[in-house]
Amino acid sequence: MIPKAELHVHLEGSIPTALARDLARRNGLDLPDGLFTADGFYAMTDFLSFLDAYDRVCTTLRTARDFGDVMYGYLASAAREGAVYVEMFCSPERPAALGISYGAWLDALEQAIDRARAEFGIEGRIIVVCIRHLGPERALAVVRTMLAEPHHYVVGFGMGGDEAKFRPADFAPAYRLAHDKGYGCTIHAGEVVGPESVWAAIDDLPVTRIGHGVRSADDPRLMETLARRNIVLEVCPGSNVALGLYPDRAAHPLHRLIAAGVPLTLNSDDPPFFHTTLGTEYAKAGLDERTLRGITRTAIAASFADAATKTKLLEEIGP
Ligand code: ADE
Ligand code: ZN
Repeated sequence: MIPKAELHVHLEGSIPTALARDLARRNGLDLPDGLFTADGFYAMTDFLSFLDAYDRVCTTLRTARDFGDVMYGYLASAAREGAVYVEMFCSPERPAALGISYGAWLDALEQAIDRARAEFGIEGRIIVVCIRHLGPERALAVVRTMLAEPHHYVVGFGMGGDEAKFRPADFAPAYRLAHDKGYGCTIHAGEVVGPESVWAAIDDLPVTRIGHGVRSADDPRLMETLARRNIVLEVCPGSNVALGLYPDRAAHPLHRLIAAGVPLTLNSDDPPFFHTTLGTEYAKAGLDERTLRGITRTAIAASFADAATKTKLLEEIGP
């Protein structure tokens, strides 16, 4: 099996449909209206209905243990597909709204990471994310929470949500604070908005990675800039096709980005929503084994893990 590493996957977006049913049952909740299609998949047709579906599945989570179970379940399934490292996007907004303290939430995630390492040898880390459409003030509050209670598994700061809302510069105070304290920074950009969104992110924020960024392929000068500045794209082809950015994998710009020298990694984003997994992304990338191994090495190098962990992982995965 080709060793794999993942830098772009969302905790709540990784909840398998069966686990959503279990969580609702054990929390004594009815499943949220409209969560599933008649076939039992998550109901969504486009980006905004996906964000709605994402919010709906989140309502099945009630306790710190629930969040931990999602993390453990994901790490276990990724490890079975050959993953040696996963950086998980985790939003502290949802546990906070449930009255779960930041520390209790992190304890549950830490236990899940430790258990998955003990059982499967996989390494996990946390990227604390804010939600773009909730605005810059909330983003700043998320960073302040993260800085007030540092945790050895929290290695980065990021942002998902509706890319059409606000500008990257609006979030510069939050990003600067995280960056100045040594956290790696990434942002979703160039997914539903074009190359101008990626330009704004790399011009106005201290980011070394871009979530998605695939629309950069529409702008040769941007691809050249990403390559020169070694800004890594966290590419999620299955997600992009499922959300209708491209009609199919053949039309996806993955190969054009690689040909332009843009450093990138392969990721699943919100796997059960998009009928994909990390293993599927590697299998369907249309790339040879040497290139795929190189992508794993790029992911480890671009990860926000400490240097010793990166060295250990790079040794483990070999050439
Ligand atoms: N949150 C979870 N998945 C996302 C995506 N693909 N784009 C933006 N925000 C997200
Ligand atoms: Zn994402």
